[in-house]
Amino acid sequence: DSSITGKSFLKEIDFSQSELEFLISYAEKLKHHVSDEEQLDILKGKHFALLFEKQSTRTRSAFTVAASKLGAHTEYLSKNDIQLGSKESVEDTAKVLGSMFDGIAFRGYAQKTVEELGEYASVPVWNALTNQWHPTQMLADFLTIKETLGTYKGKNITFIGDGDNNMANSLLVTSVILGANINIVAPDSLQPSEKVMEIVSGLQQNSNSKVNITSSIEDGIAGSDVIYTDVWCSMGEEADFDRKYQLLKDYQVNENLISSINNPDILFLHCLPAIHDTNTDVGKMAYEKYGTVGLEVTDDVFHASYSKVFEQAENRMHSIKALLAATFT
Ligand code: CP
Ligand code: NVA
Repeated sequence: DSSITGKSFLKEIDFSQSELEFLISYAEKLKHHVSDEEQLDILKGKHFALLFEKQSTRTRSAFTVAASKLGAHTEYLSKNDIQLGSKESVEDTAKVLGSMFDGIAFRGYAQKTVEELGEYASVPVWNALTNQWHPTQMLADFLTIKETLGTYKGKNITFIGDGDNNMANSLLVTSVILGANINIVAPDSLQPSEKVMEIVSGLQQNSNSKVNITSSIEDGIAGSDVIYTDVWCSMGEEADFDRKYQLLKDYQVNENLISSINNPDILFLHCLPAIHDTNTDVGKMAYEKYGTVGLEVTDDVFHASYSKVFEQAENRMHSIKALLAATFT
């Protein structure tokens, strides 16, 4: 799709329905139908900067491996290692990186930062997660739904948890763009912001996707094809842990919740990382403090046959490959 060539991906609404659909299909094609050898030269000689303010396992690895498999080189620039913020503005950083690199992936806090990079870098900029959006995750998620359920169109996707975080925002708008129905199940104080709902209303004019924002678990999960959750405390919110736990403790995805949906083909997804046992610092802390093993999801659901979280994680690489390739060819 030549319309993606040279374009930045700062948030989902930067791309049309057909562009997003193209990327998902292209990811599928690269995953199954194009040999490693044929891919090797697609981005030969390109250099990408991975500018990260926050931690990452999947996204950093996906960009690195995807680029490398397409013949490009990546350089990881942690905010701690470069001048950004302390002595250099976003604008100056964008101009410098843009003069050397062919593209920039940015992960961080403010959406404004990635928008400014996009404005001044003169090369494509990809949002690798901000507080507001996680657009590259969407490509992998809808690819995983398509692979598992045959299609995402008309499917009922239910997000349960912090309905005001990047994942909820991204799933909400992407579902409307791609024609899936979306339920956001969250306590009143953690539902999507007015700003996000305005974007959703605009998108709904060209979509027959049904949108349901509710604090009722029973109402929200009825008829679900996909149950999706995410951590209750996103990166940067660590100090807010107690408050978020108290608000969300009734919204855990567990076997009871899944079996009450009564759908033998239910699919469970999670962008990861997930707090599902006590093998992490946060999981251990939650157990010691509240006596709970697992927070947003229980270990049995996480490891159930209907959980495709590791397929979903692998799909980050295939879909980011499609994004990178489509941006330059
Ligand atoms: N899902 C995701 O973005 O994971 P990382 O934070 O590990 O990149
Ligand atoms: N909401 C999470 C997503 C991690 C991929 C966070 O921002 O930390």
